[in-house]
Amino acid sequence: MAAALIEVEGVSKSFLTIGGETVEALRDVSFHVEAGEFLAIVGVSGCGKSTLVRIIGGLLPASAGCVRFRGEAATEPREDVGIVFQESVLLPWRTVLGNTMLPLEVRRRSKPLGDARARSMLKMVGLSGFENKYPFELSGGMQQRNAIAAALSTDPAILLMDEPFGALDAITREQMNVDFHRIWKESGKTMVLITHSIPEAVFLGTRVLIMTPRPGRIRRVIDAPFGRERSLDLMSTAEFASLTGQVRAALGLESWPLEALSNSAG
Ligand SMILES: Nc1ncnc2c1ncn2[C@@H]1O[C@H](COP(=O)(O)OP(=O)(O)OP(=O)(O)O)[C@@H](O)[C@H]1O
Ligand SMILES: [Mg+2]
Repeated sequence: MAAALIEVEGVSKSFLTIGGETVEALRDVSFHVEAGEFLAIVGVSGCGKSTLVRIIGGLLPASAGCVRFRGEAATEPREDVGIVFQESVLLPWRTVLGNTMLPLEVRRRSKPLGDARARSMLKMVGLSGFENKYPFELSGGMQQRNAIAAALSTDPAILLMDEPFGALDAITREQMNVDFHRIWKESGKTMVLITHSIPEAVFLGTRVLIMTPRPGRIRRVIDAPFGRERSLDLMSTAEFASLTGQVRAALGLESWPLEALSNSAG
């Protein structure tokens, strides 16, 4: 059988803090991601999600275990993996177009081709017409679209996203979810999305991987079998409510007070 696109095998990670303590962030995490899949990963704050993204992206070494791409061990950043970080990494002195082209410039791609590619990615994320604006002139949602366009500019096979919509209000976030579902369909890319929004994970993911609190382990993997054609109406269906309920239960949120539940679903 051919190797999965991404294999995470027995990954553990401990940090030594400045105070000399050891923090165990991840413990024996294993899962596979198939080409074209949309894997959503949910877990409470501090359970090691960003650590996991950095390890998969080759930005941080694992303490144990390994990550393979198509069977090949990987320990460094790869050209075919784009990353959207939890905090915005747009350069304030560069325009929307300039920020989108940055990953292409770093890789020394041809300028005219890069320009055309960046413009087409900006169109895909709905930022046509904003090419010459600066990050401070954009809303939070537009800045995240800009970061997604930049991550897609090098045409990576895989896009890793760490809470890309975390700072957005609920209405903008739903719109971004619909747009992002379309981008996944149109681009045919493999997506790995970290989120702490249960509805977002179930709406976008073809599978939802649920992590335990720190040290992060895989608690459960749930299929979200809603096909490739998804609209916001899906969120009002009984099947959707049933799946979000399963994810919530797997996270162990059932026993939490009601206000904590509504925050985590935000
Ligand atoms: N460089 C580091 N040095 C020491 N501890 C770290 C370091 N990076 C992360 N940690 C610790 O590892 C744990 C996991 O952190 P991580 O950022 O991966 O969590 P997270 O799931 O992304 O949280 P959030 O949802 O709040 O973004 C936390 O306890 C954090 O304090
Ligand atoms: Mg994080």
